[in-house]
Amino acid sequence: MTHAVYPVPRQWAENALVKADDYTALYRESVENPDSFWRREAQRLDWIRPFTTVKETSFHEQDFGIRWFADGTLNLSANCLDRHLAERGDTIAIIWEPDDPSEANRQISYRQLHEMVCRFANALKANGAGRGSRVTIYMPMVPEAAVAMLACARIGAIHSVVFGGFSPEALAGRIQDCDSSLVVTADEGLRGGRATPLKTNVDEALKHCSSVEKVIVYRRTGAEVPMVDGRDVDWDDAVRDASNHCPPEEMGAEDPLFILYTSGSTGKPKGVLHSTGGYGVWTSMTHQYVFDYRPGQVYWCAADIGWVTGHSYIVYGPLANGATQVMFEGVPNWPDHSRFWQIIDKYRVEIFYTAPTALRALMREGDEPVKATSRASLKLLGTVGEPINPEAWEWYHRVIGEGRCPIVDTWWQTETGGAMIAPMPGAVPLKPGSATLPMFGVRPVLLESDGTPIEGAGDGCLAITDSWPGQMRTVWGDHERFFQTYFTTFPGMYFTGDGCRRDQDGYYWITGRIDDVINVSGHRMGTAEIESALVAHENVAEAAVVGMPHEIKGQGIYAYVTVNVGVEPDEALRSQLIKWVRHEIGPIATPDAIQFAPALPKTRSGKIMRRILRKIAEGDVSTLGDTSTLADPAVVDRLIEGRQ
Ligand code: WTA
Repeated sequence: MTHAVYPVPRQWAENALVKADDYTALYRESVENPDSFWRREAQRLDWIRPFTTVKETSFHEQDFGIRWFADGTLNLSANCLDRHLAERGDTIAIIWEPDDPSEANRQISYRQLHEMVCRFANALKANGAGRGSRVTIYMPMVPEAAVAMLACARIGAIHSVVFGGFSPEALAGRIQDCDSSLVVTADEGLRGGRATPLKTNVDEALKHCSSVEKVIVYRRTGAEVPMVDGRDVDWDDAVRDASNHCPPEEMGAEDPLFILYTSGSTGKPKGVLHSTGGYGVWTSMTHQYVFDYRPGQVYWCAADIGWVTGHSYIVYGPLANGATQVMFEGVPNWPDHSRFWQIIDKYRVEIFYTAPTALRALMREGDEPVKATSRASLKLLGTVGEPINPEAWEWYHRVIGEGRCPIVDTWWQTETGGAMIAPMPGAVPLKPGSATLPMFGVRPVLLESDGTPIEGAGDGCLAITDSWPGQMRTVWGDHERFFQTYFTTFPGMYFTGDGCRRDQDGYYWITGRIDDVINVSGHRMGTAEIESALVAHENVAEAAVVGMPHEIKGQGIYAYVTVNVGVEPDEALRSQLIKWVRHEIGPIATPDAIQFAPALPKTRSGKIMRRILRKIAEGDVSTLGDTSTLADPAVVDRLIEGRQ
């Protein structure tokens, strides 16, 4: 197979922070002598008490543990704010672009952001939060969402941000799992001209959550929302009399920073826990090197703060680096399909980072909405969240970047804290569709499913053999699940759940999840979660969910449903089930297809053969493989006939 290769443009090769020789030398040092490499890199943060130990990690069962810079202390809110005040207090930290372009934008300097965070931190304290308490943040894309996160970091509270698109049920599950005592929300969120009733959702969720004592409500739209006496507090009232002085709490490097729920292949979403020191070093370093970020440049990550990309590349990484960034409340296709590019022109954005699904959706609208804008300020483009197909890559490069901007395709996960495989734009020639080469300190391996390592070019399961500072530290409340999920498939290694190919140049090509996780529009969904939502419906006996190829979303959700005896599997039930899943999880889990199946293909021991269900959903029935182990092979023919 031959692939296009885009060499490093000359001005990048000469001027980038990390040049080709630097990358090779530093990468070698980072894996051969991690102590010296990380001791130096960690100096990018301000430590209150300097660390003496660097890396104390093992992925082996007998001495399993992950600790970085463990005896050092610091505060990440101070690293993102206070230390910038002397030199760049008046630099704009956040340029907020509202959903509706005719509404006024906001420009918030580091000094102002610092003051907002201090006030809100004091408000949190006044409402009972403190070191170690959990605060759930269910907010739209407004600067106050970042303020709430940094205020938690400032006082040592652990934030758990829940994406505003999740339903009350999903929100309740995430509040209960970590026993939050406080919820921060807004009256409504606005996206694409439509309002989401965030506060009403919180009220609904809190019917099932006894741990929550206070709810702080930011007024985004001013909509009338019921306020519960003694529980609900207006954001403005909470900060009005709060002092703008709030000394940052001295946190241990291994103290928890946040929990972020993510879907796995089994069971309920896992509370991924990140700690302070390692995560801070990792997000700051990767943000600087991957985006070649220099203070003064306008940077824009178009993710939502509810996902890890928003945590690492809107809040902690860029703010630790003193960046000026755009924060966008809306969506790429409203009021029209030029919106992203108009914003780039409006603020002269130089670095732009988004997901392939957004690019594919915009690409479908043709080049006109793009050509209507200049985009002359753009220097570098990035993608994250799912494999980017070479056609979308080429379009991003040729049409959006007019052939002049390198594209950094960054492979990483909620669990990894920040970019793991990604090109440094001044060092690594690009191949469309490949995330290219590992980040400093990252040691990827490919394995056969029986654990045999693959040398050189090949295709296999992607694992990482040694720890990196930004790695998650545990699953909230279930350390055993953490170990079982990630370190037992290939003992002594972190298993990513992704399949991957390595080519003859050592470039990595992520092929997608090989477990029961699907990636819909760059959002991770556990098939088990959707199945359990479906079987919770009174008419459903059994359900199996798999991914299917989808032109825009990357993967779509294909559900096989067996109804209870006596229930008519008709169109009315089909649309009822779609509504039901949206209600149970949220719109992002809306099934693209529901096939009523009289029975599911099972082995004689009762295990559903998902491999077969995937093939049928893909429409690829010529290669079903061995079906002889099925209890009733005739089931398969009936499924093929009923394909949606
Ligand atoms: C997928 C998002 C290919 C992958 C930061 C991973 C990617 C999952 C890429 C994690 C990429 C993310 N190329 N696949 N550049 N980036 N993925 O936890 O399957 O929401 O395991 O983190 O997204 O999704 P998560």
